[in-house]
Amino acid sequence: MCGIVAYVGNKDICPLLLEGLKRLEYRGYDSAGLCVGTKAGFYVKRAAGRISVLEAAIDDKMHGDKALVGNIGMAHTRWATHGPPTECNAHPHMDDQQRVALVHNGIIENFASLKQFLTEKGHHFSSETDTEVLAVLIGHFYQGDLAKAVQLALREVRGTYGLAAMAVSEPDTLVVARRGSPLIIGVGKDEYIVASDAAAIVEHTTQVVYLNDNEMAVIRPGGFKTMTTDDIPVTKAINEVEFSLQQIELGGYEHFMLKEIFEQPEAIANCLRGRVDLHEGRVVLGGIGAYSRDVVRARRIIITACGTAWHAGLVGEFLFEDLAKIPTEVEYASEFRYRNPIIEEGTMVLAISQSGETADTLAALREAKDRGALSLGIVNAVGSTIARETDAGIYLHVGPEIGVASTKAFCGQIVVESLLALSIARRKYMSQNVLNEFLQAIIKIPDQMRKVLEQSSSIRDVTAQYIHRENWLFLGRGYNYPVALEGALKLKEISYIHAEGLPAAEMKHGPIALINPGMPVVFVATRGSQYEKLLGNIQEVKARGGKIIAVASEGDDYIHRVADHVFTVPETIEPLQPLLTVLPLQLLAYHAAVLRNCNVDKPRNLAKSVTVE
Ligand code: F6R
Repeated sequence: MCGIVAYVGNKDICPLLLEGLKRLEYRGYDSAGLCVGTKAGFYVKRAAGRISVLEAAIDDKMHGDKALVGNIGMAHTRWATHGPPTECNAHPHMDDQQRVALVHNGIIENFASLKQFLTEKGHHFSSETDTEVLAVLIGHFYQGDLAKAVQLALREVRGTYGLAAMAVSEPDTLVVARRGSPLIIGVGKDEYIVASDAAAIVEHTTQVVYLNDNEMAVIRPGGFKTMTTDDIPVTKAINEVEFSLQQIELGGYEHFMLKEIFEQPEAIANCLRGRVDLHEGRVVLGGIGAYSRDVVRARRIIITACGTAWHAGLVGEFLFEDLAKIPTEVEYASEFRYRNPIIEEGTMVLAISQSGETADTLAALREAKDRGALSLGIVNAVGSTIARETDAGIYLHVGPEIGVASTKAFCGQIVVESLLALSIARRKYMSQNVLNEFLQAIIKIPDQMRKVLEQSSSIRDVTAQYIHRENWLFLGRGYNYPVALEGALKLKEISYIHAEGLPAAEMKHGPIALINPGMPVVFVATRGSQYEKLLGNIQEVKARGGKIIAVASEGDDYIHRVADHVFTVPETIEPLQPLLTVLPLQLLAYHAAVLRNCNVDKPRNLAKSVTVE
């Protein structure tokens, strides 16, 4: 989604802003722009398309007062909502008197009525965006004090924003504010970098301040002040960002998605580090801390999430019911937030999110909290809004995920759910022996993942045989049913092939009608409680001419007789199988996208973190 980078300091500002925007490219965007304060006023440039187009449009030959040197500037990547991705709709937007410039993430919900009000006051507009309305509104209130004008304007606004604003007559002042859209202030030596994502900050500093909703900051070369948007001063702590620049670079891989798929053994080892005590036979989850009693006493769990995180939640439903014996439901956050959900005493809500910023998940979490639920976050991005708003939580620690298609976060989410389920189970029904067996199995997962990933080139070859097929089915049962859903989602989002994921037995209630000769059908067919039944489903597809691609257990000779292609995974206990079976499906999707010349890391229409409804 949209991205913001703003800078106050003494470095060469234009390359710095462009570099910052490139760090945010992975989040998805369709136009970009920047504003630099020069001695002769603002230099504003905007362009539809990639950042390289903006870069090419920038006239760096400007000299004298107009030279593109300055100590203050801001830049933006836009993901179109109000109006198509054109130069005119790109940010920054100036007010109609050219006094104030604004970049904005989020949505101004009452932009139409504000526009009418401003039009009646004689203002005019040159774009279709809600952001320009806010820029004009700030301009309307502006009387020489930008912070004041922003505060007055935000009082009139309904909706969400992360924003940065500059005023021509206050050349050393940057004003930033947030509600519902993240904004982080990086605090360097004599410089400040504001961004909507820490990825644009870490090459300058790892010291950051996270703004909360309804907070703002006024930043000048000598320092910054933080306050609420109602002008009440707030003191903010400086935090350390956990990840390094190296982690957000390609490191020799062709794509971030491939890098992140192959990083999974290490990412999962990091996720497990310090949490599995084999010696004592216990699970250690520091993030639950003071809430551990309430967690163990939970009588019902509601998992809320979107997309891949929702699939991980479906695996969680099995884990919490199977291991911890707690009734569990998994809810699409976008639906949950608008229902009238019943939250009884003893309900624990788990919000699962890689980014920790997904608007629907955040809103669902707030809804559940308002109704009295205990809230836990399973989040990757440290310091993100969901992580800060939950009562307690467990970070994934799988490192930053840059590829738009979520891969390592999915496995991290399942590992964390497993550990949480085990820690509850052990304090209720689970014997030490069963726990030990589970822990022994989980610590083997990173090495077992490495073995699965070795099949990447054969997965590529098989994928190539079916690359022109426009319809695929992914089927699984039990713990592997969410994996089938995830395999289908991965394929469609990055290769634009239509794919459907289903619990295998559901196939004959309708989707079996789709099967025609040669149609690729992927079965997640590892040995386990439902293996025999799944073999029956495979025969049903074969009988109709479908081509069977199976993900099966090592040493299963029979499956080679019924499937056209087999990828194998090492044996593990059934609850942990998704951590291995999902890997061939991630690789299949990746290779399909590359074979079809798709932009793997920046698939069309998608954004890494969906911060609007
Ligand atoms: C799919 C994908 C999305 C996200 C979803 C939730 O590959 O990445 O479906 O899983 O948008 O995002 P987070 O986990 O950041 O809340």
